[in-house]
Amino acid sequence: MKKYNISVIPGDGIGKEVMPEALRVLRAVADIHGGLKFEFDSHPWGCEYYLEHNQMMPEDGLSRLENSDAIFLGAVGYPKLVPDHVSLWGLLVKIRRGFEQVINVRPAKQLVGIQSPLVNPRDFDFLVVRENSEGEYSEVGGRIHSGSDEIAIQNAVFTRKGVERAMEYAFKLAEQRQGYVASATKSNGIVHSMPFWDDVFRDVSEKYPDIKSDSFHVDALAAFLVTRPHTFDVIVASNLFGDILTDVGAAIMGSIGIGPAANINLNGKYPSMFEPVHGSAPDIYGQGIANPVGQIWTGKMMLDHLGETELGDKVLEAIEGVLEDGIKTADIGGTSSTTEVTDAIIEKLKSVC
Ligand code: NAI
Ligand code: MG
Repeated sequence: MKKYNISVIPGDGIGKEVMPEALRVLRAVADIHGGLKFEFDSHPWGCEYYLEHNQMMPEDGLSRLENSDAIFLGAVGYPKLVPDHVSLWGLLVKIRRGFEQVINVRPAKQLVGIQSPLVNPRDFDFLVVRENSEGEYSEVGGRIHSGSDEIAIQNAVFTRKGVERAMEYAFKLAEQRQGYVASATKSNGIVHSMPFWDDVFRDVSEKYPDIKSDSFHVDALAAFLVTRPHTFDVIVASNLFGDILTDVGAAIMGSIGIGPAANINLNGKYPSMFEPVHGSAPDIYGQGIANPVGQIWTGKMMLDHLGETELGDKVLEAIEGVLEDGIKTADIGGTSSTTEVTDAIIEKLKSVC
């Protein structure tokens, strides 16, 4: 019997609604498989925990997660009561940085049964590999003076090591996919870090002669994701560019409620973390209408990461089958509840497995 220890952090808002649903799906996957077991270790960390303890997770939080096979996270944020930078940096970023989750991967794929806001999009299926540890999201800088003399300096940090490993990851993924990597640059406007980014991209691409590679300025690339998303396979981008491009990816899929994401630890020292793209959606929390697909698809990415790719594929097949049957939540034009969609996915799993 294979056993996986999963640390679970439902977090805030709809995270608490969609996480139990995704766990139900994973339990169903284990039941169907027969030789597989998930051990879920759940942690009540997040904004409510913060209001009680004045911290988003306990002092030894990271060490409690450290030995798990993966971390499964819902969403974090309760903006009415806790400022977003406190909740984000106190939990999410702490785990991403503390566990050296240096790569963020987000797929954007036209799912059967979901209407993209694009008119007549051709079938698209691309992955954005986002550098997740440095780049524009650095803490180097500061503010001095005040009033009209005030100055803010924010330094971007690009290391050869950091850039190279993100690009290597992208090329390796492309080898298993359509064999095409597009790099997001902006070397016409950002004259130091982006020409450096381009140099590293050229160096890495030479190691993969069978993979087609291209560079695009990020503004043009963002536009191409709208006008011809079907032409992309793997996109590699810096922290900021990747953040923006993946939101475009989620948007053209049809709803932010369906997109999954993975924060990958590459050196094997710490677990990787899997979380949907969406946040805690306080505007719909408590109504039972949150779309569980983002969390469930994220569970598929976790299965893939654990080496259970066949099962992962089945989960996505079940999701698409259910959407095709028209069983969907309101954000994608349906009338079903969170639980009804999950029930249908579990039923469908039984028939596709
Ligand atoms: P959000 O993703 O929570 O919501 C944006 C819009 O999409 C809302 O109208 C919401 O109802 C809708 N939506 C999101 N997920 C949905 C789902 N599964 N089903 C149906 N509709 C869904 O982003 P927002 O409103 O900017 O942020 C709310 C809170 O979440 C903030 O505190 C923010 O910091 C946090 N947040 C956390 C993230 C994380 O934990 N990774 C990511 C993004 C935001
Ligand atoms: Mg974002």
